[in-house]
Amino acid sequence: MIALARNSAITRFMQDLVPTSGLASRFVAGAQVEDAIQTAKRLKSQKLSTSAFFLGEYVTDRKKVDANVAGILAAIAAIDGAEVNLHISVDPSQVGYAIDDEFGANNIMRIAKAIREKTVSGRKTLMLDMEDEDYVQRTIELHNSLADAACPVAITIQAYLRRSEVDVRALAKRGAMVRLVKGAFVGSPQTAFTARHEIDANYRRLASLMLSTEAREAGAYPVFGTHDEKIIAALREEARDNGWMPGTYEVEMLFGVRPILQQSLAADGCSVRLYLPFGRDWWPYAVRRLGENPRNVWLVAKALIAQK
Ligand code: FDA
Repeated sequence: MIALARNSAITRFMQDLVPTSGLASRFVAGAQVEDAIQTAKRLKSQKLSTSAFFLGEYVTDRKKVDANVAGILAAIAAIDGAEVNLHISVDPSQVGYAIDDEFGANNIMRIAKAIREKTVSGRKTLMLDMEDEDYVQRTIELHNSLADAACPVAITIQAYLRRSEVDVRALAKRGAMVRLVKGAFVGSPQTAFTARHEIDANYRRLASLMLSTEAREAGAYPVFGTHDEKIIAALREEARDNGWMPGTYEVEMLFGVRPILQQSLAADGCSVRLYLPFGRDWWPYAVRRLGENPRNVWLVAKALIAQK
């Protein structure tokens, strides 16, 4: 699925021919930031917060990086006046890290500062997504330098990686906002857990570290990026036992994935955020969602049939 997501010919074909397919609209708010804002407002009325994501990843062309950065900055300006959370997720590879670290760091600093300067009420966040293993150390260093510069930054950590326990401990000590996910990539046994039960067990271990008293006292804000009902139930119980009040941590899910679970958690008083992608480059994102649940594959077939 990752190879399919990164195949530029297929991406062009799908995006040109089926811009409004069921596959796209299931997982993506729409092509424009206005679509994302409208969807965010609708979700807000259901007690669901959002994190906007401007689609476009693994960009190796500087002009395209510039276009991504301009798109993200325009989105920040538009969201600022719209009475929805100013919470933006960014892939380092979409803003220059796939070309050159310094170029990427300068771009991300512009984005972080733009978020910091806004006076919108509520939690303002630049959430760094985590990509494949090449990006992990660089993204953690980027997070730490933005946090040291008093930018409202948060970071995603993947439970499938063996190194993540050390990373979570260090980030918890800093009082960081960490979004824990299982990981959308496959690693080698030397660096990664490869069996599903091992990844799940590590997720639980890392979640416990994030919900420790030490993390709470350091001012950490845990975010659990998962649709795993059992894990969510267990960590909510652990949070209660450890004195984490509702609103001091959150569960985050992907727009379009398990909407009934999203709504029932929100109705039960859990803070729930949805990762809300928007933009024209929907194919690589949507196809990765398929990889997470092969039962979704029929959506591809439908998308192809729809354009005939
Ligand atoms: P798991 O895969 O075990 O699924 C739990 C249940 O949810 C199952 O019943 C499953 O069928 C259902 N489900 C999961 N995905 C589904 C889908 N697409 N469609 C339908 N049902 C589905 N990864 C990464 O490497 N870097 C990142 O930065 C991020 N960022 C991120 C943000 C947020 C908010 C989320 C929720 C996820 C990510 N991910 C990610 C993806 C993450 O690593 C992981 O691949 C998926 O969330 C699937 O794992 P679950 O924890 O949901 O468990």
